[in-house]
Amino acid sequence: MKKRTAVLISGRGSNMRSLIEAAKAPDYPAEISLVFSNAVDAEGLAFAQEHGIPTKALSHKGYAREAFDEAVDAILREANIELVCLAGFMRIVSAPFVKKWEGQMLNIHPSLLPSFKGAHAHEDAIAAGVRISGCTVHFVAAEMDAGAIIVQAAVPVEIGDTPAALAVRVLVQEHKLYPEALKLLASGKVRLEGGKAVFSD
Ligand code: GRF
Repeated sequence: MKKRTAVLISGRGSNMRSLIEAAKAPDYPAEISLVFSNAVDAEGLAFAQEHGIPTKALSHKGYAREAFDEAVDAILREANIELVCLAGFMRIVSAPFVKKWEGQMLNIHPSLLPSFKGAHAHEDAIAAGVRISGCTVHFVAAEMDAGAIIVQAAVPVEIGDTPAALAVRVLVQEHKLYPEALKLLASGKVRLEGGKAVFSD
């Protein structure tokens, strides 16, 4: 049985698109069963709808953080979701929500973690002068961008790079990496154990 997976977005949704495309393969172990957005006008919602994927949008405005996360959790349970992929979901998720989905929730971050956590990864990588950056898919932990690392891809930082140019180069790798990570989780080849990603054949 394919794992029922929700993708949580806030905007463009290009990683969501790569997950939807990958999950079309008959032997892919997850299906994208729901796309959820906290921004009702998120660009990614239309793509999901065009691909026949149920979507839900609920604005976080007017909610306390934990109350919003409870509402999101209820939406996920209602849709019988088993796995969650945060994909450009611009909300810090609360500790109780993380606990409920521990080992079942992934995030993608556009740097080689643990370097350059937070919302300005490309700016920070360029400012630090690193020559290699990249992207990371990790299990979500209560501390932002700090969960157990599952897979990473490296990307060169070119001389004179702008954050936007680096973002484009990293995004190409993100679109390969996220489907790979979800495949590992959905097929049981990686699991979270003692705060670490444990791999098996
Ligand atoms: C990606 O770079 C992702 O790593 C980061 O936010 C961006 C989202 O882009 N968390 P998209 O919405 O998937 O196109």
